[in-house]
Amino acid sequence: MRYTDVSDQLDEVLVTEEQLLARLEELAREVERDYAGTEVLLVGVLKGAVMVMADFSRALRDSVQMDWMAVSSYGNGTQSTGVVRILKDLDTDINGRHVLLVEDIIDTGLTLSWLRENLMSRGALSVKILAALRKPDAVVADIVPDYLGFDIPNKFVVGYGLDYAERFRHLRDVAVLSPHVYAKGE
Ligand code: IMP
Repeated sequence: MRYTDVSDQLDEVLVTEEQLLARLEELAREVERDYAGTEVLLVGVLKGAVMVMADFSRALRDSVQMDWMAVSSYGNGTQSTGVVRILKDLDTDINGRHVLLVEDIIDTGLTLSWLRENLMSRGALSVKILAALRKPDAVVADIVPDYLGFDIPNKFVVGYGLDYAERFRHLRDVAVLSPHVYAKGE
């Protein structure tokens, strides 16, 4: 663990920064092949997708555009509410555009399934999904990412953009948050 100051709040590292970067390079090659000749609009979902967007977009050799949305589906806790609200909308008109949604993690898939419908209803030609991580419950919402980093077990994880109460996003690796942290509501 690189961060000694928070190491007592984390259990095991599930995915390292090196693994994430290597996988995103592979996915970048796939995306370049699939979108050859078309300029894709990357849409990042704030705030968790900041790290994956930064690394994935820089792994791409082709020209892309980038925009961001912020939605709320989680409060400060660790449970999905199923409620999706747009906090920040796109600046770009996506009518007639090919959109690639960039997400940190698919848990229940509720957020992405809602977002995909929302973007399609604005006239996007296609809406595909790239997610750095996926948990097993994603199968329930029938959300299949077109580009996936890693499948992880059903544990609450932090790092690489993922937070608990806005903390831990800056950690380079993805690690399991020790249950004692959220049990105490720290
Ligand atoms: P979903 O709608 O259940 O798929 O939830 C997606 C969002 O919940 C993600 O974009 C994250 O912001 C958040 N989330 C889900 N699982 C975790 C986790 O293990 N750690 C931190 N955030 C999570």
